[in-house]
Amino acid sequence: MTESQTIQSSMVETRKFPPPARFASQAHINSPAEYQRMHRLSIDDPEGYWRETAKSFVWFEPFTRVLKWDPPHAQWFVGGKTNVAYNCLDVQIDRGHGERTAITWEGEPGDGVTLTYRQLRDRVGQCANALKSLGVKKGDIVTLYMPMVPELMIAMLACARIGAPHSIIFGGFSATAIADRVNDAKSRIIVTADGGWRRGSVVPLKQNVDEAVKSCPTVQHVLVLKRCENEIAWTSGRDHWWHELVDSQPAACPPERCDSEDLLFILYTSGTTGKPKGIMHTTGGYMVYTAHSAKYIFDLKPDDVYWCTADIGWVTGHSYITYGPLQNGVNVFMYEGAPNHPDWGRFWDIVQRHRVTIFYTAPTAIRSFMRQGDAIPAKYDMSSLRLLGSVGEPINPEAWMWYHTRIGGERCPIVDTWWQTETGGAMISPLPGCTTLKPGCATKPFFGVDVAVVDQSGKEQPANTGGFLVIRKPWPAMLRGIYGDMERYRNQYWTQVPGFYFTADACRRDEDGNFWLMGRVDDVINISGHRIGTAEVESALVSHPAVAEAAVVGVPHEIKGQALAAFVALKRGQTASDDLKKALLDHVTKEIGAIARPEQIRFSEALPKTRSGKIMRRLLKELASTGEVKGDTTTLEDFGVIASLRESDEG
Ligand code: PRX
Repeated sequence: MTESQTIQSSMVETRKFPPPARFASQAHINSPAEYQRMHRLSIDDPEGYWRETAKSFVWFEPFTRVLKWDPPHAQWFVGGKTNVAYNCLDVQIDRGHGERTAITWEGEPGDGVTLTYRQLRDRVGQCANALKSLGVKKGDIVTLYMPMVPELMIAMLACARIGAPHSIIFGGFSATAIADRVNDAKSRIIVTADGGWRRGSVVPLKQNVDEAVKSCPTVQHVLVLKRCENEIAWTSGRDHWWHELVDSQPAACPPERCDSEDLLFILYTSGTTGKPKGIMHTTGGYMVYTAHSAKYIFDLKPDDVYWCTADIGWVTGHSYITYGPLQNGVNVFMYEGAPNHPDWGRFWDIVQRHRVTIFYTAPTAIRSFMRQGDAIPAKYDMSSLRLLGSVGEPINPEAWMWYHTRIGGERCPIVDTWWQTETGGAMISPLPGCTTLKPGCATKPFFGVDVAVVDQSGKEQPANTGGFLVIRKPWPAMLRGIYGDMERYRNQYWTQVPGFYFTADACRRDEDGNFWLMGRVDDVINISGHRIGTAEVESALVSHPAVAEAAVVGVPHEIKGQALAAFVALKRGQTASDDLKKALLDHVTKEIGAIARPEQIRFSEALPKTRSGKIMRRLLKELASTGEVKGDTTTLEDFGVIASLRESDEG
C-alpha cells in the first residue's frame, strides 16, 4: 500500500458562503468567470501572464526573458534589474502617495508611531547608510533579531535597499538557535534591541544575542535599538546604539540595482532533520508575486488599514506585512505584543480604535479567543472590518464559523490562505469577491499556480481522495534553494514525486475543484501555526547529559492545533523524576525556544523499535494521543517497551 492510499479524509462540511453582494460589488475580481478566465490564462501561458503583470513594477533595466526553467532551478525575469525597497517606498512617493500612512504601530505598553511613505523611505535610507558605515556590502547577510517595532521593518527594507540579504530570526528563539543561524549564514552583523515587550515583561533580546555571539566568530558588529531601557551588557567597538548611529545618517541612499535573481533574504525553517533550512528567496519574482497576490487575495485598496498579526520573523510577516502590502500602498498596522495584554480584548480594541479594515491571523489565535467567550469581542465596534484572513494550519470549521460570526459580523469574507515559507506567497486561497467559501477549505489556486493532488507516482487522484499536494509548474516567488545545501533542496522538494514540487502536505480536491488541506505528511509539526521539526527537538533532548535517546511526535491540541509529545530513554544510572522533566523542558527552551517545549514527556528504558532499529513513531503517536496502542504491532521488537511507556507518567 502506498502512503497516499492511507490518507483518508473523514471531514464532511457542506456549508457554503458565496461572496456578499456588497463586498463583490467593490472587489478587484468579482465573478467566478473572471477568476477562471485569468487562472486559465495564467496556466496556459504563464510567461505571457507574468510578463504582463511585471509591467506595473519599476525595473531599472528590463528583463529579457520571463522564465528560465532548468529543473529544479528557476530564474524569473531574467536580466531585469530592480530594487524591492524602491518598489515598496519610492514608487508610492512618485505616484503622489508620499504623505499617506505606511505604518501605524502600537507598542504593547500603548505607545505608538505612524510613518508616512516618505518618512519611512527616509528612515530606511538612514538605516541603510548606517549599515554601509559598518561595512555592509551588497551580498552580505545581515541577521535581524528584533521585537515587532517599526525599526524591524525599517532594517529589513534597508537591507533590501543596499542589496544585503536579511536573515530574520523570530524573537522567541533562544541564543543557541540564533548562533546556529548566524553561523550558517556567516553574518558579520546583527541588528537587535535591548528588549521587546511581551505580556508586560521584557524579552531580553540583547542578552540572547550576547550569549549567541560567544560562539559566532564571524560577528563584528551588533546594532542595538533602545526599546525597553532594560539594563544590558555592552561590548565597546562591537556594539552600536541605533539612536546614535542611525539617526545621524543622511536620509538619501540610492537603491542598489539588484539583479532579479539576487538574494533578497534567507529565512530559516524546520525540516525533517535536526538542522534548520535557510530558505532562499530572490528579488524580482518574489517582489512581483507578493505584490500581486496581496492585491487580489486581500483585495487591497488605498484606504485600507491592513493588519496581519504574524511576527515579521515568520514568512507571513515578510510577505504580507512588509513586501506585499507596502507595494500596494496601504496603511500597514503593526502591533508589538501579546493578544491578551492587558486582557483578551486587546486585538478588538485595536480594531476599534484604528478602524482596521482587513485582519489576517492564525487559527490558533482564533481558537484562543473562542475559548475566552463571545462577550469579549461583542464589547467592541468592529464595523470597520471588511475582510478576514487565516494562515498557518488548517482552520477547523468550528473556529471558521466563530470567526465569521463573532469577528466578521457575518459580513466579511474569510480568505484561508495556504502556503509555506518555501512558496514565498499564498498559493491556494479564496479571492474574496468571487469565491464561494466552505468553512475549513482553502479553496482555489491563485493565478499562475498549478497544484494537484497525486499519489506517490505522480498520478492525479480522483475527486475527494486524499493524496499529496504537489505544484506542477514553477512560480515567481518559489524558493531558489536551501542556503549552502543545494543537494538537500533537490532531495527534499523535487525527488519525492518525480518532476513536481513536493509540499509535504496531504490534501484532497472536492467535486467543485476546491482544495482541502489535511496536514503534514512528514515529521514537521505545526504548533500554533509555527513549524517545528520533531528531529530538532529530539536533537535538543539528546544533547542533555541524562538522555540516551528521544523520540518526539505531534499530538492534537485544542488550542495549538498540534503539540509535541516526547518519549525519552534515560542513560544508565539516571532516574525519572519531575525535576528531571522540568530540567529537560528548560533545556529544550534553551536550545531552541519556548515554542518547542513538549506538552508531554514520558520516560522509559527504551523506545519501541522495529527489528531493524527504526523507532516506531506511529505507535508513539497513538499512545500520546489516546493513551493506548491498538494499531499493528507485529513489527515491534519488544512489546514490553509499550507497556512501560503506557504506565509512565505524562507531564
Ligand atoms: O502544513 C501547511 C501549513 O503550514 C505549513 C507551512 O508552514 P510555514 O512554512 O511555517 O508557513 C506558514 C505560513 C505560510 C504548510 O506546509 N499551512 C499553512 N497555511 C495553511 C496550512 N495548512 C492548511 N491551511 C492553511 N491555510
